[in-house]
Amino acid sequence: MNTSVSTTALRIGLMGAGLIGREHAALVLQHPGTVLSAIADPSPEAKAYAASIGVPLYAQYRDMLDKEQLDAVIVALPNALHVEAGLACVAHKLPMLMEKPIAESVAASMQLVQAAEAANVPMLVGHHRRHSPDIREAKRAIAAGELGDITAVNGMWLVKKQDRYFDAEWRRKPGGGPMLINLIHEIDCLRTMCGEIDSVQAIASNKARGFEVEDTAAIIFQFASGAVGTFLMSDVVPSPFTYDVTSGQALYFHHEPENCYYIGGRKATLALPMMHLWGYESADGDWRDRTVRRGLQTPRSSAYVNQLENFIAVARREAEPVVSGRDGMMTLAVTLAVDRAAREGRAVRIAEMFESTP
Ligand SMILES: NC(=O)c1ccc[n+]([C@@H]2O[C@H](COP(=O)([O-])OP(=O)(O)OC[C@H]3O[C@@H](n4cnc5c(N)ncnc54)[C@H](O)[C@@H]3O)[C@@H](O)[C@H]2O)c1
Repeated sequence: MNTSVSTTALRIGLMGAGLIGREHAALVLQHPGTVLSAIADPSPEAKAYAASIGVPLYAQYRDMLDKEQLDAVIVALPNALHVEAGLACVAHKLPMLMEKPIAESVAASMQLVQAAEAANVPMLVGHHRRHSPDIREAKRAIAAGELGDITAVNGMWLVKKQDRYFDAEWRRKPGGGPMLINLIHEIDCLRTMCGEIDSVQAIASNKARGFEVEDTAAIIFQFASGAVGTFLMSDVVPSPFTYDVTSGQALYFHHEPENCYYIGGRKATLALPMMHLWGYESADGDWRDRTVRRGLQTPRSSAYVNQLENFIAVARREAEPVVSGRDGMMTLAVTLAVDRAAREGRAVRIAEMFESTP
């Protein structure tokens, strides 16, 4: 690892040049503080891509780690490879931006987190929404008490996925549905804004598509603060009510200014990402009074650019990661708990998810 990292451009290696890997590559290439030193990806598409941008390519990421002088690594591999790749980065003392989910199981994520912490290797988990100005502002306003004690939380992720999306057999089987693929982003946002979740309940349905995997689910959260929350998700419902569309932050979706999260406190309710803060005219108003709306200010910026900025500072050891390995592990644990709750038809405590984990 380079020891003069704080004065020169950060030399980044990219593992996996697929859909999101290429987005990371484009951001790294555009940023004045970073250099894309090498890519590791065995696919023919990656070979053509690396040649087109003039970046050295390795078929094996271990060869890239052994041969290149790197300061940091972005891991954008399929989920099943996250932990082994992360452990290889730890062995090379290389700070990493690890795409979400940090791992496929709580036990595997714990193994990676503990190895990185023991070796003092920083890790940023790629929950990019945390770097969005709206989520940041919501977190700030809630922590500052502007909504009062958070009491009731509601969110939605309602989309219609294209039929061809399900051509891949794994997407029709348990584990390939919206609970484990999409909900992880929502849970990360809810944890960020409203604090830790203690337990979850869920009902899943596969009635619409008829596949083995769920297409729709209703989820209930018990937050550690005492607040309760509900979340509705479906991949068969045409709507703009998903953060990807309402925030304008996503890479592949159009922008429709609407809200998808409603966070109710004792003083006010925040609807976001439009950042509408609803309350009564006077602090002691009640349901007989007129509701008034004021807007919280959020200067626009790109979550992905902000994430890269944080990663650069983390790799230079100038800042803490906005999403640490432990944080990514908690989001994974809640997501897996929702899946378990739906399958077993009972409330699942998040602590349960760690009971067989060292
Ligand atoms: N944060 C986000 O916005 C976001 C968006 C999409 C995907 N993701 C996450 O990023 C990861 C990658 O997703 P994707 O959609 O880009 O997948 P993808 O299938 O498009 O890309 C994965 C790439 O990894 C390569 N690969 C496979 N095995 C490899 C190996 N042993 N060594 C090196 N390269 C290897 C593949 O050839 C492919 O190019 C997943 O964990 C996913 O959850 C995050």
